[in-house]
Amino acid sequence: MVVSDHISQELQDGIKAGQGQWHKNPHSLLDLLQKHAFEMNLDSLRLIANIAQISPIQIWAAYEDWLKRQDQEVLKICDNLTCLAKGAVETRKFFKKNCPKGLEIQWIQCLGGCASGPCVQYRGKLLTQMSLKKVQELIQEETQIP
Ligand code: FES
Repeated sequence: MVVSDHISQELQDGIKAGQGQWHKNPHSLLDLLQKHAFEMNLDSLRLIANIAQISPIQIWAAYEDWLKRQDQEVLKICDNLTCLAKGAVETRKFFKKNCPKGLEIQWIQCLGGCASGPCVQYRGKLLTQMSLKKVQELIQEETQIP
């Protein structure tokens, strides 16, 4: 596999500019990748580790932390028919029109709790039987967003 096929020259140059330093702060490397809209996964990060001259294990560990940080202000709402049929339609209608400031809404095709839907996920935790009212209360309690 040719690295340059997957990584823009500009991003490669940015990574090379930080060589010798990335091992001290791999989170900065991930921030750089995000800035360049680089699609991160275990395979692609192995290539990045090679360019950045750090251990793949180090970048994967940083990636796990980074994912947790990204999830802090993200509310994932199941948008699958199973959850919609159990009452998520009301939630969907509301949040398609009203996205609370400071909170990112992601529409997910299934969160894995289908039997107990409607489901949402917040801060990495799956929450089941979430009516619109419960979701609004969750947002208010957890984020202080009115
Ligand atoms: S269909 Fe909603 S969690 Fe699976």
